[in-house]
Amino acid sequence: MNCYGHFDDAAREYVITRPDTPWPWINYMGTGDFFSLISNTAGGYCFCRDAKFRRILRYRYNGVPMDAGGRYFYIKDGDTVWNPGWKPCKTPLDLYECRHGMGYTRICGEKGGLRAETLFFVPLEQRCEVHRVKLTNRSDSPKQIQLYAFVEWCLWNASTDMENFQRNLSTGEVEVGPDVLFHKTEYRERRNHYAFYGANRPFDGFDTDREAFLGMYNGFDAPEQVLAGTSANSVAHGWSPVAAERFDLTLAPGASEELIFVLGYVENPAEAKFEAPGVINKAPARAMRDAFATDAQADAAFADLRAYWDDLLGRFSVASDVPELDRTVNIWNQYQCMITFFMSRSASYFESGIGRGMGFRDSNQDLAGIVHLIPDRARQRILDIAATQFPDGGCYHQYQPLTKRGNNDIGGGFGDDPLWLLFGTIAYLKETGDFTILSEPVPFDNVPGSEVTLLEHLKISFRRVATSLGPHGLPLIGRADWNDCLNLNCFSAHPGESFQTYGPSEGPVAESVLIAGMFVKYGNEYADICDAVGDHEEAKRARFETEKMSDAVMKNGWDGEWFLRAYDAEGRKVGSKDCEEGKIYIESNGFCSLAGIGVREGLARKALDSVKERLDTEYGIMLLQPPYTRYHLELGEISSYPPGYKENAGIFCHVNPWVSIAETVIGRGSRAFEIYKKTCPRFLEDKSEIHRTEPYVYSQMVAGKDAPSFGEAKNSWLTGTAAWTFTNISQYILGVYPTLKGLRIDPCIPSDFGDYTVKRIYRGARYIIKIKNPSRVEKGVKSVIVNGEKIDGNVIPPAGVNERVLVEVTMG
Ligand code: GLC
Ligand code: GLC
Repeated sequence: MNCYGHFDDAAREYVITRPDTPWPWINYMGTGDFFSLISNTAGGYCFCRDAKFRRILRYRYNGVPMDAGGRYFYIKDGDTVWNPGWKPCKTPLDLYECRHGMGYTRICGEKGGLRAETLFFVPLEQRCEVHRVKLTNRSDSPKQIQLYAFVEWCLWNASTDMENFQRNLSTGEVEVGPDVLFHKTEYRERRNHYAFYGANRPFDGFDTDREAFLGMYNGFDAPEQVLAGTSANSVAHGWSPVAAERFDLTLAPGASEELIFVLGYVENPAEAKFEAPGVINKAPARAMRDAFATDAQADAAFADLRAYWDDLLGRFSVASDVPELDRTVNIWNQYQCMITFFMSRSASYFESGIGRGMGFRDSNQDLAGIVHLIPDRARQRILDIAATQFPDGGCYHQYQPLTKRGNNDIGGGFGDDPLWLLFGTIAYLKETGDFTILSEPVPFDNVPGSEVTLLEHLKISFRRVATSLGPHGLPLIGRADWNDCLNLNCFSAHPGESFQTYGPSEGPVAESVLIAGMFVKYGNEYADICDAVGDHEEAKRARFETEKMSDAVMKNGWDGEWFLRAYDAEGRKVGSKDCEEGKIYIESNGFCSLAGIGVREGLARKALDSVKERLDTEYGIMLLQPPYTRYHLELGEISSYPPGYKENAGIFCHVNPWVSIAETVIGRGSRAFEIYKKTCPRFLEDKSEIHRTEPYVYSQMVAGKDAPSFGEAKNSWLTGTAAWTFTNISQYILGVYPTLKGLRIDPCIPSDFGDYTVKRIYRGARYIIKIKNPSRVEKGVKSVIVNGEKIDGNVIPPAGVNERVLVEVTMG
């Protein structure tokens, strides 16, 4: 429990009971290509496909007051003006509750005997938000009130919307209907899309010009028209178009009124852009609005949305003696995996949606969290990502979702990227067994005619890393590896330069021990794929290379008590006892150990002990120690952060699972689970005052012990932490691990964890896996019984589609 809210697991909701959370606690809506961010006070925005280029609502980042812009309902009841979500007026409410659910948010407010219940959701396969508002007069006297529904339009390109005022302030255009307000800026020229905000009844007044609605010097908390209970019926020409709709309502004691709004986005074909010269073709908007005109229609659409999530979240679940774990795994972690898959790192309350495209590396990792839920979309994503690869195996570091083209500004040369394509594809193959993906033709750099098979892309990815080695036989790091801030070839000395793209950059000397670990892990899995498709020669070559790499790590990547992190451009050690600062790093120790390097020789155990001794805290494992206290030109961005933040000794949640997984590789279940729990928000709920971000999702980073705000999280939602923690808990700790040949059962748990059951759909069959641990071991499987028959080993061969498979596992 904490003082801001609680979980309602039966409803799969987080219930927020006071609006002034330590930071806006948000939710996402949308499952197709229309997405919304919505905070617990109804702030946020929506976009279609691309948060930068098709932004529908305007939002003010880092603004004051916090979280300005959203879908605001204003209620004027006598002299009182209030919002059901408290903001923006912040009139104290008699009751407030926000329920963030799977793809929807309910916000309920009550004031002076009037209750307003709002529900926001994005219906399946629709490019719109539906807003339902139910007003109930719970007082003894009749009420005459005004309800205003309000949004502010973004002029589409969210970036120029904030900077190009000499143009923007003259381009805004709208059209007005009796029950719908249309935003059509730039539609007259090159755009074929517009947005609209409509209601299921005609309004009594409207405004489309922001100044007319708010007044020149007022904020959203005091709109002139609302305070007066009027509308100016303004038609915006330039300046800032908005949609404000007024309804005059009379409510008898006990009576309710319900309104349904649709905030939609429409694209018209070129030949059907206009219904008359200069007049937009509104038929699709009207059809969309009409599809949610009645309570029954809106109920049905909402029921479909709930069924969608019920189905998805029914595909993997655990029932254990640890309720916090079950709830995390069964609900919020998988939900967050879906959101990170949809958004990559584009739009959150920490990512502006204008800065970054989709990360090549990030998007591949995100696949691991959703491949069991939406394999078809994972398949498409892999092909899209691979199509941005260069013929030499290098990769654009990012690509734009709208065009699916590589992002030239950031370019390529991040040494780890090719391996992440292996990672993503391997995760897909192990889950689905769909080897047909490997023969799909995929171009390079999206150039038509350059297609080779996806398998060829994998081969080129593998080769690229195998042949880009430095003086110690370790992979060259390029502009950075997983750690974007370890810029060993850039040497940026002036503010404003990009740490990643500045400088001579790819460099023939600086090497990464992390990439070496990844190469061993995914190179071996690549070899398994080659075997599975009958290319045993390539498999052999690949295993030869990974073995060589493993040797190179043990010879040149071992520092005595832990794995080194890298060699810099001058061949000096990074992450070594010999360094003055940054002596030990988490990534190479996690990854090399989980890849099995030095397990036999006892190096992995030693490395993990060093991590525990030197990097562990109550909130998780820090990225490095001791932090960099000054700027190191030879290391780059990592040393630009004040100690304890981000990559400079923050607790980077994303990489904690690597260490936890490594612990399972050496069989230490208690430690693996302890690491899991430390960053799991569900176990941190009572620390919200310190932690600050949403207690239902992972954050990218928690301030490390060197920071004044130790324990404070940042960058919630869009982080590889989601997919990696899910991989860790589901595959390594609970031990239900998909392989090319079927599910392997190999749990690694604390000895007192108790028995548990995992239910999982795998390649179309439904598995019920009961795991018993009578002798209280941490790892080891004594027997596996499948549908009553004992099998050899612990890999369950795939069953037929729709078959029900009962598996009884005894550890020991
Ligand atoms: C961010 C980036 C990710 C990178 C990590 C560490 O999370 O999105 O690509 O691996 O930071 O620098
Ligand atoms: C990652 C890091 C961030 C850095 C960025 C640069 O997201 O977490 O600190 O600024 O990469 O691309």
